[in-house]
Amino acid sequence: MLTGHERPAPQRVPVRLGGRSYDVHVGSGLLDQAGSLCCQGGAFSKGLLITNETVGSLYGGLVQRSLSLAGLRVPRVDIPDGEQYKTLETAQRVYRAAVGHRLDRRSFFIALGGGVVGDLAGFAAATFLRGVALIQVPTTLLAQVDAAVGGKVGVNLDEGKNLVGAFHQPRIVIADVDTLRTLPKRQLAAGLAEVIKYGVIGDPDLLQFVEDRLDRLAAGDRAALLRIVARSCEIKAAVVAEDERETEGVRECLNFGHTIGHALEAAFGYEGMLHGEAVAAGMVAAAMLSARLTGFPEAEVQRLADLLQRAGLPAAPPPVEEAKLLTLMRRDKKTVDQKIRFVLAEQPGRWVVRDDVPDDLVLEIVREQRNRWASAK
Ligand SMILES: NC(=O)c1ccc[n+]([C@@H]2O[C@H](COP(=O)([O-])OP(=O)(O)OC[C@H]3O[C@@H](n4cnc5c(N)ncnc54)[C@H](O)[C@@H]3O)[C@@H](O)[C@H]2O)c1
Ligand SMILES: [Zn+2]
Repeated sequence: MLTGHERPAPQRVPVRLGGRSYDVHVGSGLLDQAGSLCCQGGAFSKGLLITNETVGSLYGGLVQRSLSLAGLRVPRVDIPDGEQYKTLETAQRVYRAAVGHRLDRRSFFIALGGGVVGDLAGFAAATFLRGVALIQVPTTLLAQVDAAVGGKVGVNLDEGKNLVGAFHQPRIVIADVDTLRTLPKRQLAAGLAEVIKYGVIGDPDLLQFVEDRLDRLAAGDRAALLRIVARSCEIKAAVVAEDERETEGVRECLNFGHTIGHALEAAFGYEGMLHGEAVAAGMVAAAMLSARLTGFPEAEVQRLADLLQRAGLPAAPPPVEEAKLLTLMRRDKKTVDQKIRFVLAEQPGRWVVRDDVPDDLVLEIVREQRNRWASAK
């Protein structure tokens, strides 16, 4: 049995996209190997390490040393920490640093941090010199299981999140689960919401695993974390391989819990409710809607709510003005022809999209949800 001090074997998850295929390396102690792994990702001249002060001060030196041992010269640029800095202005800082360090078309950007750094650096990579190579080194659970895989990159506008972006697949993703040990508990829980999402839409065994090992996961057990990150990446990789640009409807399943989740996130400000927290409450609402509309078992709704709460996540949203909730859901960029689209679960592991859910039913469900699981948050 692993004691938590031993290194579990790394896993390689391929993302199959023809000429744009790449591997997600999931393991413990991988930052030490960042240099050699980057060299596997392509023959590069030089690079730019993009991080923020929080993550840079923890892991920047380690990554730079490893890159330098592999013969890669990679200066570092720090962006400020926070969702409010995922902007075009910050992207411009990155472009300027890249010009200052004389990067060229054969150079690469390496993003070290959570989803904010990954999305911003990825967007800068997609656009600098009309596109340079990108390497993702995600350091939050959310970024390891979601943001760093799949090629969506972007920045926010004052008018809304991720309104400007691109599809730009990385050359390689290096997910070192050791970095999760320094992650604040609240951020770890927020990432778990996405893992639980993959369980509900794609893999009942993953859901069971999280239920059984929740305490170990919260305690930073490397083997357990490696398993859930690798399995989540496999599920996302399979979805992305089928529907890279979200044109086939397949990728839409990743939005389970996100219709209401995005609206809650916008309603409470991005600090008030973390993305994963909003998605948790959104998933319970989607599961309740599913129980009414698709025959999703009621026992599974309760099971999902129990698991989320055990993980430190809300099973119901804070009080929210109903008209505002509907307006925000309509404004979501996934809305088509003003029709709100819901991903609903049918059975654990099976899902369907519905765009005919009446507003009244949505509001009724949220009221009932609050009655059952009203959270103090
Ligand atoms: N591109 C996609 O497909 C996709 C998918 C999901 C989310 N996202 C985006 O991801 C962003 C959210 O990402 P996030 O949840 O990782 O938040 P984040 O990047 O803001 O990171 C959360 C906090 O944790 C800190 N941090 C990161 N790694 C750490 C570590 N190992 N130890 C200690 N502190 C650490 C960060 O500095 C930050 O303060 C949003 O902008 C969202 O839009 C993108
Ligand atoms: Zn999400």
